[in-house]
Amino acid sequence: MKRSEINQVIEEAKALMQRYCFHLPIFADYSLQDWQQANLSTQQEVLDARLGWDVTDFNLNDFAKFGLTLFTIRNQSATNNKPYAEKIMMVKEGQITPMHYHWKKMEDIINRGGGTLVIRLYQRDEQTDLLDDSADIHVAIDGKQMTVPAGGLVKLKPGQSICLTPLLYHSFWAEDGVVLAGEVSMANDDLTDNRFLEPLGRFSHIEEDETPIHLLCSDYNHYLKGE
Ligand SMILES: [Fe+2]
Repeated sequence: MKRSEINQVIEEAKALMQRYCFHLPIFADYSLQDWQQANLSTQQEVLDARLGWDVTDFNLNDFAKFGLTLFTIRNQSATNNKPYAEKIMMVKEGQITPMHYHWKKMEDIINRGGGTLVIRLYQRDEQTDLLDDSADIHVAIDGKQMTVPAGGLVKLKPGQSICLTPLLYHSFWAEDGVVLAGEVSMANDDLTDNRFLEPLGRFSHIEEDETPIHLLCSDYNHYLKGE
């Protein structure tokens, strides 16, 4: 992705959050200069837990079709002892987060406002590690049990949420408008815990065509530690 596109997407996400009165922590507004002037020793948890902005096209170079904009609000780090995480996300209409599961993370995905959040579900075939085309899926929507056929869709209206267990394949997108989506989960490790059905990248390769308005969590090492 181009940095200019990432900057624009972050502005859109901030406007969406404002529309639904979802307020972010102060460091969400830090400029590159703010970060460079900050006393990083007091904000090490932000860097270690990879909190903050996260815009990805899954390295497929078609953000409108395959992409997600996230802000990680809290998460486990090596030192904070938190077994939990929380994210807020912008899911644009028709914009797909590709089919994946998590090895360890159990997560609730919540429609916090906007259109309809559509989630496609499959069990994992234990032999092949691919999609099981025949097994039903048993899931809870806000504590209510339901059964979905293989590849079936769950549609969440604002206020509704689904509990996704580890190893359960899921893909999602928005219908009837952009969705502000929440995620409440166990500790999140985007470096090792995502198993995508198709080989792709969780973080985008970035073409630096302008200065970042805000750093992404995947920028911290480069911009703040010179790595
Ligand atoms: Fe997921």
